[in-house]
Amino acid sequence: MMLHATLVIALLTGLSSGQQRSLLIDGSTKRPVGDTMQFFIVNPPSPPYTEISWSFQGSPVITHLEGSDTFGSNYSGRVQLDGLTGSLKLHNLTLQDSGEYIVTIKMSGGTEFSGRMNLTALNPVSVSIVANETEPIEFHSTVKVTCIASGSFFTVTLFGETGNMSSTYEGLIGKVKITEYKEARRGMRPFVCEASNDVTGMVARLPVNVLYGPDEAVMVATPKGPSYRPGSYITLSCSSESYPAAQFQWALNGTLLGREGPELRLENVQDSESGGYSCWASNSKTGRKMQSNTLHITVPVSGLSGGGIAGIVIGSLLAVAALIVIVLVLLGFRFRPVKGCYRRTSTGD
Ligand SMILES: *[C@@H]1O[C@H](CO)[C@@H](O)[C@H](O)[C@H]1NC(C)=O
Ligand SMILES: *[C@@H]1O[C@H](CO)[C@@H](O)[C@H](O)[C@H]1NC(C)=O
Ligand SMILES: *[C@@H]1O[C@H](CO)[C@@H](O)[C@H](O)[C@H]1NC(C)=O
Ligand SMILES: *[C@@H]1O[C@H](CO)[C@@H](O)[C@H](O)[C@H]1NC(C)=O
Ligand SMILES: *[C@@H]1O[C@H](CO)[C@@H](O)[C@H](O)[C@H]1NC(C)=O
Ligand SMILES: *[C@@H]1O[C@H](CO)[C@@H](O)[C@H](O)[C@H]1NC(C)=O
Repeated sequence: MMLHATLVIALLTGLSSGQQRSLLIDGSTKRPVGDTMQFFIVNPPSPPYTEISWSFQGSPVITHLEGSDTFGSNYSGRVQLDGLTGSLKLHNLTLQDSGEYIVTIKMSGGTEFSGRMNLTALNPVSVSIVANETEPIEFHSTVKVTCIASGSFFTVTLFGETGNMSSTYEGLIGKVKITEYKEARRGMRPFVCEASNDVTGMVARLPVNVLYGPDEAVMVATPKGPSYRPGSYITLSCSSESYPAAQFQWALNGTLLGREGPELRLENVQDSESGGYSCWASNSKTGRKMQSNTLHITVPVSGLSGGGIAGIVIGSLLAVAALIVIVLVLLGFRFRPVKGCYRRTSTGD
């Protein structure tokens, strides 16, 4: 009896798969591990059904018969069957769930419909990127960038300044490492590592903070020199391209003044402060130092300008002349005109 029944089912199955529509989209699909796979029944026959059963690689997954579900080993709690449509949900996919799934729907008249589908579960890719130096120095450091990717059957590409490097891993559980060396320079683009397989993709970025400078140091004076009146206020400003920002020191006639900062304020300047001013820009991270241009500042010795001095000299001479005239008048001299010219005589003549 048992043998006979099996034979009949096998015959009917052969008949339906040979002559009738498939319940599943033929072919295969790929899903990431951990995901839920939903098998949809396409072209479902008109209910009522007497039995819906799903199998995986020949072993039962679930059988829905007369309103109750029977689970294959390891499937209880992990599968859900829709008794109306026959669709199946398989949760928490593992690599071991890869294989062929067959669904069979039996009708009350004894007719059977079936469908097959291959599922491949893939480990999702993950990728990370690291550098052996986080703050490379411009034109000096060589950075070693490493991109590490893992997953199933993936391709990984490292995009960098010197070119793109690719590697492929073929297999269900895998890991590859690709590296790139780079001479650090300013304005370097971030390194980007991309990994992908048929089910997932991931991108990791690594910005590069290149240390540089100080470049040329430039000094300016406000107000513009080079000559200033004693008592003037002068601001010297120094600037230089640098990362991190440059530190500034000030020098007069080549000797450091012990003053720091991007500005040097000279208040109430005196002639003793005359000389050649310059600044030093330095970057402790790059260890580089740069001297600026030299600005000469001239403050005259006396407190007056040339025009002022001339004015005072002329004024003094006039005062002396006036004094002489007054003294002469007081002493009894007078001016008397004599034949077209002036002749000085005494009143007693
Ligand atoms: C599933 O894979 C097996 C083995 O590779 C193959 O024999 C079968 O035809 C595939 N089935 C479908 C529906 O693609
Ligand atoms: C059920 O799980 C165990 C352990 O995880 C495994 O050894 C066994 O092969 C699984 N059985 C089936 C039918 O998948
Ligand atoms: C899937 O796995 C996680 C952790 O392994 C578990 O917490 C969760 O209940 C599982 N879900 C199902 C539907 O089996
Ligand atoms: C990083 O790697 C490069 C290349 O191997 C090497 O030249 C450099 O010295 C390394 N940097 C550090 C900080 O180890
Ligand atoms: C690297 O890949 C990027 C993005 O695909 C592309 O724009 C660039 O031209 C490639 N560079 C080289 C050197 O192959
Ligand atoms: C700087 O040098 C100039 C020219 O040698 C000199 O005239 C000036 O007095 C010096 N200044 C100081 C503060 O030493």
